[in-house]
Amino acid sequence: MKFPCRLDKFISHLAQIPRSKAKAAIKQKKVMVNEHVITAFDHAIVQTDLVLLNGKPLTYLGKRYYMLNKPVGYVCANIDELHPTVFDLLDEPNMNDFHVAGRLDIDTTGLVLITNDGDWSHKITSPKHNKFKTYLVETQEPLTETALEQLRQGVQLHNEKDLTRPAMAELLASYSLRLSISEGKYHQVKRMLAAVDNKVVELHREKIANIELDSALSSGEYRQLTAAEIIL
Ligand code: URA
Repeated sequence: MKFPCRLDKFISHLAQIPRSKAKAAIKQKKVMVNEHVITAFDHAIVQTDLVLLNGKPLTYLGKRYYMLNKPVGYVCANIDELHPTVFDLLDEPNMNDFHVAGRLDIDTTGLVLITNDGDWSHKITSPKHNKFKTYLVETQEPLTETALEQLRQGVQLHNEKDLTRPAMAELLASYSLRLSISEGKYHQVKRMLAAVDNKVVELHREKIANIELDSALSSGEYRQLTAAEIIL
């Protein structure tokens, strides 16, 4: 939510009611701003205003940032008709303008960042900002040093114009590697492994930029980011 914000929009958003109902409440003089009844729908609200609807305060909770340890089977979407979403795991008020900063596939586990700060998530997801995302990858076929070197240098993905950007790839075991990439193309890690004639069988995100998945979070648990983590 951006401030200043129209009164009808503010009420609709925080009371989670349609804009038409917010307007009706304003018209019926059920809304007070800083102790005055306000009847203009477009009255400009700033973050420090005290807005009452039917005598009850509507409080904007500001920008919020969470990390979640995503389990398999959850989708990174606000609504999904078939599957539970990562938002089902968050028990927080007023989550309707939140989004995932860098989605994971339904079968991928690990670090997911959720926020209502669009500028911040843009810094995470835009390739322009060059933020690395680190994945633990389990593969179907044994990994070779040649394949790892190809992943480091850049590989050609189907239907992409350019090679993938230089990546960091560390062999952990015959079927397992740690891969850090600075882009977030659709199914990128799976497609990169396919490009070197292999297949991902398990994928887990450990880190995004400076933010590491907290090892105290079990699968499905979340916490707020610390002030230091929010600084990208
Ligand atoms: N790359 C993928 O292929 N899948 C993910 O979930 C994340 C990165």
